[in-house]
Amino acid sequence: MTTYVFYTAASLDGYLADEHDGLDWLLSQPMSTGGLLDYERFVAGVGAVVLGRSTYDWLADQGEVGPGRWPYEQPSFLFTHRGIEPPVEHLRVLEGDPAAHRAALEEAAGEGEVWILGGGDLATAFARAGMLDRLDLTYAPVTLGAGKPLSTAGLDMELIETGRSGPFLEARYAVHGLREQG
Ligand SMILES: NC(=O)c1ccc[n+]([C@@H]2O[C@H](COP(=O)([O-])OP(=O)(O)OC[C@H]3O[C@@H](n4cnc5c(N)ncnc54)[C@H](OP(=O)(O)O)[C@@H]3O)[C@@H](O)[C@H]2O)c1
Repeated sequence: MTTYVFYTAASLDGYLADEHDGLDWLLSQPMSTGGLLDYERFVAGVGAVVLGRSTYDWLADQGEVGPGRWPYEQPSFLFTHRGIEPPVEHLRVLEGDPAAHRAALEEAAGEGEVWILGGGDLATAFARAGMLDRLDLTYAPVTLGAGKPLSTAGLDMELIETGRSGPFLEARYAVHGLREQG
């Protein structure tokens, strides 16, 4: 069974980015390694990466994307409605319900996990499709007051493990699914 993981960082009030898609509040923190959610350890277990268009655009703005250039060596899948020429062969463009692409994602991931890189919009679409098993969340010691939310629907979870890495609080949750209404 393939595990789908939303591995991300958020402010204490649950935003992934500020209102202008900025991550200064995160990138200005002293970086830290070796914790529960250590990046190198996590990424070594990733078989495929999926991301939404805002996250892709942010990477492109950072200069991480260009002809023949893509920051992830794993097969990668960009969900967007807008046409785009993928910069590398191992980045594929998809759209629609994640469930329709489940077989392709899981074949690409092999024995590894599927990393939902971002953002909250796409992670919620995966949760709606029953394709979100875990949230690995690094909390930065900051509140933003507004911005891009961690999820765009209510999700029920169970806290599995916690840790601390430098200034960050780390929390690993099992995702049970969408919250019942009412
Ligand atoms: N804190 C962190 O560690 C972290 C990590 C990653 C990203 N981020 C940032 O967080 C923000 C995330 O923003 P977000 O949650 O609004 O965006 P997102 O999920 O990255 O992108 C949302 C967009 O992806 C496309 N999309 C999503 N689902 C789709 C589907 N099923 N089919 C086709 N297209 C689909 C749509 O764009 P179109 O319809 O326009 O194509 C949608 O508007 C970004 O600023 C990103 O840089 C933060």
